[in-house]
Amino acid sequence: MIRLEQVSKVFHGSAEAAVDHVTMEVPKGEICVLLGPSGCGKTTTLKMVNRLIEPSSGTITIDGRDTKSVDAVELRRGIGYVIQQIGLFPNKTVEENICVVPDMLGWDRAKSRARAAELLEMAALKPEAFLKRYPKELSGGQQQRIGVLRAIAADPPILLMDEPFGAIDPINREAIQDEFLKMQARLRKTIMFVSHDIDEAVKMGDRIAIFRAGRLVQYDTPDNILAHPGDGFVADFVGNDRTLKRLRLIRVAEAMMPDPPRVTPDDTLATAAARMEEYGHSAIVVVGPRGRVRGFVDAKQARGSRGLVGENFEPLPATADIDEDLRSAVSTMFRHDVTWIACVDGDGLYKGYITQRGITHLLGATYRA
Ligand SMILES: Nc1ncnc2c1ncn2[C@@H]1O[C@H](COP(=O)(O)OP(=O)(O)O)[C@@H](O)[C@H]1O
Ligand SMILES: [Mg+2]
Repeated sequence: MIRLEQVSKVFHGSAEAAVDHVTMEVPKGEICVLLGPSGCGKTTTLKMVNRLIEPSSGTITIDGRDTKSVDAVELRRGIGYVIQQIGLFPNKTVEENICVVPDMLGWDRAKSRARAAELLEMAALKPEAFLKRYPKELSGGQQQRIGVLRAIAADPPILLMDEPFGAIDPINREAIQDEFLKMQARLRKTIMFVSHDIDEAVKMGDRIAIFRAGRLVQYDTPDNILAHPGDGFVADFVGNDRTLKRLRLIRVAEAMMPDPPRVTPDDTLATAAARMEEYGHSAIVVVGPRGRVRGFVDAKQARGSRGLVGENFEPLPATADIDEDLRSAVSTMFRHDVTWIACVDGDGLYKGYITQRGITHLLGATYRA
């Protein structure tokens, strides 16, 4: 756990504090994103944690130990650092770059070389293709990946990351973020992560600390920041589309009505109509013998009609996966111009449904809370 207690930094010759009485805690194994406009003190805060910058006042502890009482070099051995401009050594190969800290720590050469290959593998980069290349032979995205691998090479429990994916185009950025989150799910590092991008912060952060002119103005979970911005500055910063951003944080499974009514192809349309009436639904999903989604029957068609469901149902225009986020499910609903959508698991089994009205209600309920 990293804890900052009333930490300030006033640079020599400067009238104003770059960081002003910041108190916050990053719990073990979590990612805390420091978010705010340029110049608000994010990098300075980060660098005070590994003492690349000494605080003017206040206390920083790591697992309860005051960082001032630890030798700075010793301290940094336990803290991986990804600097703002990647900063790979241009005259070293990828392998040598990744092994910088293990080499410094005097690891056995075979062990550190094996580690480099293992890390490349983990970042979906083929070791045989990359180990011997130089940074200038890599794309920006690949360089940033190597920057991250270098920081975790010696397996430090703490990571400081300063806009680690800042120089990547949006598409590769999404991929690299996903990849990093997968790695983090395994590694459970305690991470301070600087960003100026609200979308990145919402995606990556277990918590978000919003800075303004050196002060910490709000520190909360992404959903609370989006649902309840503490003041006008935060509201402006997170944007008018904050409700849409929240949709990304909610999984379909959390928003759907579970155990929905259903019919099988062998049921009669009369049965289908009666079941829709009972639930007040205007449509009902048809499932096969093992519960796989087959299609749906419309109430208007079913009412007063004879015959079997199996001869009269229509295919569903779309389904949502229970593990996808609501933003993607809602865009599917808009794309197909439907007001509800059936939700299925990985095997295509019918698990529930979501409605536009239900989603509005869900978001509204948390705003009122
Ligand atoms: N070494 C320094 N000397 C003087 N002022 C600095 C130094 N480093 C940063 N600052 C100032 O401190 C403030 C915060 O900078 P920084 O932490 O880099 O912001 P951010 O990372 O949020 O963009 C800025 O006003 C910046 O100009
Ligand atoms: Mg910065």
